Amino acid sequence: MAEKHKFPAEHAARLDNPERRRLLPPEEILQFMGLAPGDSLVDVGCGTGYFALPAARLVGETGRVYALDTSLVMLGKLREKLDAVGNPGNIQVSLSQEDALGLPDGCASFVLLAVVLHELADEASLLGEVRRVLRPGGRLGVVEWKKDDDWQPGAGPPPGERLTAEEADAVVSAAGFRLEKQWEPGPLHYCLVFLRE
Ligand SMILES: C[S@@+](CC[C@H](N)C(=O)[O-])C[C@H]1O[C@@H](n2cnc3c(N)ncnc32)[C@H](O)[C@@H]1O
Repeated sequence: MAEKHKFPAEHAARLDNPERRRLLPPEEILQFMGLAPGDSLVDVGCGTGYFALPAARLVGETGRVYALDTSLVMLGKLREKLDAVGNPGNIQVSLSQEDALGLPDGCASFVLLAVVLHELADEASLLGEVRRVLRPGGRLGVVEWKKDDDWQPGAGPPPGERLTAEEADAVVSAAGFRLEKQWEPGPLHYCLVFLRE
């Protein structure tokens, strides 16, 4: 399986700043995806918790957020953030494997892959795991970079590493999901929401 470029943990600060919040507003995106109080969300590739923290507020005390990443450095930074802002009590932070989430079957009503799909070594394998942990009727939200010809070095992954929305739809649909809706939250990204079939 081809190695994919992973977001470098030493650039973690780039994942949370005012400019990113303007271009990729996490609360609005989670609301668009339909995340609601009581949901159990698995945030695969949570990084420093850019989506996991607002998601924990959204799902509330009757919900749960499983914040997973393959990088211990990223998880360490998320734990530091939780110590600083106070753990809302409904976030479980865990190390996952490239193709194994380490969670029980059907434990989630929602899975998020935010700027992660293009980094997966084997999309079909990880998406099989996503389908396994999602209960029937659950939803998968995907956020990705648009494939932009005007790319400049430093402005996200190069076009050759990106997926168009159509390519992402094809990969995810082939794993047993159906595209429900899509949205462009800003000029650089798209969001897709899938139903687990
Ligand atoms: C570009 S960062 C995005 C982080 C976060 N979702 C956000 O939007 O701020 C991608 C993250 O996915 C993680 N990652 C890559 N492949 C993964 C996999 N197979 N399973 C879990 N995490 C993965 C990386 O370690 C990194 O933290």
